[in-house]
Amino acid sequence: MDDDRHITALEATIRYHDRSKHRFDRYAPSPGYMDWENQPNPFRFYEGVEPEPLSFLTDDPGGGHEGLYLRSRHRTSPVDRSAVAGFLELCLGLSAWKMAGASRWSLRINPSSGNLHPTEAHLILPPDGDRPAGRYHYSPFLHALEPLARVPGRLWQKVEAHLGSTSFLLGLSSIFWRESWKYGERAFRYCQHDAGHALAAAAFSAALLGWKVTPLSAMSDRQIEQLLGFDQINWHPEEKEHADLLCAVHPADAAVPSPDLPDEVLSEFSSLPLSGRPNRLSRKQVRWPAIAEIAGSTRKPEGGAYTAPLSAAAFIDDPGALLSAAQTIRRRRSALDFNPEFILPRRQFLAMLDKTRPRPNTPPFDAAFGPPEVHLLIFAHRIEGLDSGMYLLVRNPAQIDLLRGAFHPHFSWDLVEPNFPLFALEPGDFRQIAMRVSCHQHIAGDGAFSLAMIARFEDVLRTAPWHYRRLFWESGMIGQVLYLEAEARGARGTGIGCYFDDAVHELAGIEKGRFQSMYHFTVGLPVNDPRLQTRPPYAHLDNDR
Ligand SMILES: Cc1cc2nc3c(=O)[nH]c(=O)nc-3n(C[C@H](O)[C@H](O)[C@H](O)COP(=O)(O)O)c2cc1C
Repeated sequence: MDDDRHITALEATIRYHDRSKHRFDRYAPSPGYMDWENQPNPFRFYEGVEPEPLSFLTDDPGGGHEGLYLRSRHRTSPVDRSAVAGFLELCLGLSAWKMAGASRWSLRINPSSGNLHPTEAHLILPPDGDRPAGRYHYSPFLHALEPLARVPGRLWQKVEAHLGSTSFLLGLSSIFWRESWKYGERAFRYCQHDAGHALAAAAFSAALLGWKVTPLSAMSDRQIEQLLGFDQINWHPEEKEHADLLCAVHPADAAVPSPDLPDEVLSEFSSLPLSGRPNRLSRKQVRWPAIAEIAGSTRKPEGGAYTAPLSAAAFIDDPGALLSAAQTIRRRRSALDFNPEFILPRRQFLAMLDKTRPRPNTPPFDAAFGPPEVHLLIFAHRIEGLDSGMYLLVRNPAQIDLLRGAFHPHFSWDLVEPNFPLFALEPGDFRQIAMRVSCHQHIAGDGAFSLAMIARFEDVLRTAPWHYRRLFWESGMIGQVLYLEAEARGARGTGIGCYFDDAVHELAGIEKGRFQSMYHFTVGLPVNDPRLQTRPPYAHLDNDR
């Protein structure tokens, strides 16, 4: 990108971030009501192709909770269609149907702001038996692959030779309209969070099969769209899928693939005959120019490969979890309400936070697009043996001085435990404050703790404006870890996208633009709503599992 375009894109990104902030006196521009008539279909189907049903797991991959993080605990599955089916079932498939009165809605393994699910998945799979290599869209509703292009054997061999092992490609994309229908201008942020959640979900599911998810971090958005055939699809302009990221999913013990694909391969992909037409999601859409602009200014250019030189730190003592890795993945839900009396044991709290620290060769953060930038500003409400107050978990030790310099000078910065980067900043009862800054949502004050994810901001964007999206991806990945950590320990989490940005910055004493809050999260003991009924995820396909 030349200098002038870089500056324009940088300014546009900062402008979008500012205008999509919620403030005490005005929320970010949104429709302000739900246009139920035009609610987007949460499921994309490619019409005119015959979906290929995928098998369901008869037995989940075994392994305790620690198996989420330790690939070595799992046998490496061959990369065939039935293993890919299991992979998709455990990262992007449906997790349940919920019913209340006459309403019925599905939930998925991966969470989504407002349950609107803007994230779509496309795969490029190797041949298997008499099935040729192909480009597919994953339909979570049908748990099926929709074949969009046949990939000639010769072309697949070039891909495989470049990747260095029998593996497959997973592309994630976002349909902004699904989120902007409800949330207006702030929707672009939520789409990026959701992509981060989906990426972490994929990394965990892959780990259970002995596979690793490696982002092809040098690829540009344009190249991904070329590979996935998006440049040939006749989209409705407001329902288009925008490329988020492309990953190789490969046996964990295979060499790490190169972070790009050769131009020759990409151009062969763009000349493949295409099948299928994307379904229409709404009869009528609303155009949000601010979203079109931020999508344009944060397009990822080619290059900038990242190879995750993360610092190693042993896991701290973990008192243990109640659920196996696969049970946790399947049972993950958002809490709608918390028991405000619940006290979380300190060791469980620390073990949970510990899992959000990036480590080499450890899912999900070794599927990163850049160095760790996101830290956790924690409002500890009720942790056994820990004073209530404000704390900071520093996820990238290289930034500690920067953080100290940016936060209020009166913070105490006392280490809570030796060799663990959690600092007590200020004691006090933050329940009301946490609730207030999270758009007055009770879950932020009634949980055992809630937190804001704080990232270096303008300096990161200055290196390349597309990193704006990466900051949300990293935050979404942390959210996914916290969801699973909470669930496994008998508690529950909820992502919080609605918060008053600058109110959080004021609390921490952060000057404009140096650091920003990218996402909130809360963890506590859920109170279930007895009016809600639950059905199995694929009951609509006569699968009662
Ligand atoms: C990025 C993101 C933001 C969210 N923001 C909120 C929020 O502000 N308040 C809330 O109650 N739930 C929030 N949620 C939870 C979603 O509503 C929830 O994931 C969705 O309804 C699906 O339910 P499930 O997580 O149980 O599958 C958020 C989830 C995500 C992923």
